[in-house]
Amino acid sequence: MAEQGMRLDKLLAASGFGSRNDVKKLIRQGRVTIDGVSVRSADAKVQPAEQDIRVDDEPVVYEKYHYFMLNKPAGYISATSGGGPTVLDLLDEPFRDLFPCGRLDKDTEGLLLITDDGPLAHELLAPRHHVEKEYEVELRDPFRAEYVDLFAAGMTMADGTVFQPARLTQTEEKACRIILQEGKFHEIKRMFLAAGNEVVYLRRIRMKNLVLDETLAPGEYRKLTDEEIAGLRALLR
Ligand code: URA
Repeated sequence: MAEQGMRLDKLLAASGFGSRNDVKKLIRQGRVTIDGVSVRSADAKVQPAEQDIRVDDEPVVYEKYHYFMLNKPAGYISATSGGGPTVLDLLDEPFRDLFPCGRLDKDTEGLLLITDDGPLAHELLAPRHHVEKEYEVELRDPFRAEYVDLFAAGMTMADGTVFQPARLTQTEEKACRIILQEGKFHEIKRMFLAAGNEVVYLRRIRMKNLVLDETLAPGEYRKLTDEEIAGLRALLR
């Protein structure tokens, strides 16, 4: 019968016990057990849901994917590499395949989902799902009541770019909230420029059910709760 399951070293690396090399060392040192029996081969096939796998007697909790909410500070780019510090530099996690789900401009702050769940990220970013994104906006000049209808109608830029309707709510003399259902490059900044104003500060506070945790200072992050993950996954059903 063909061997089934996942390689032991892959499981341990994916579960936060270090790099492939680190975990191979743990295995060679006899510190890893499967159902109480010490195992010394990194390529042993394991069934994480059915077997009791431990490192130094600590149970290995296997999670296929990982999800983090970052309060992005200004000055970091939303990419895995490139010119200047990236949002991934703010995470101290052993998982190799993490990436930001969507982009915020370098000077934009706030909610950014960082995950290694490619299928879920793909769905969240797919235009057909119209996933809502909500931002706090501070403006150079006072908010004008006519912006509400202007933004609600959608906008076509001089270069032909079409921005879908957005909902605006004034919050202060020079501040508002905006809800978008898409995420085109510099969308909010370009819409306000077209309206004769200018965005001086932008912060994302929500994406779908995921609300920025206000206890996170800029640059801090935390794991998503099971409920938050379930809310995002509801898209896939
Ligand atoms: N719109 C912008 O202009 N910038 C962002 O970072 C997000 C939306």
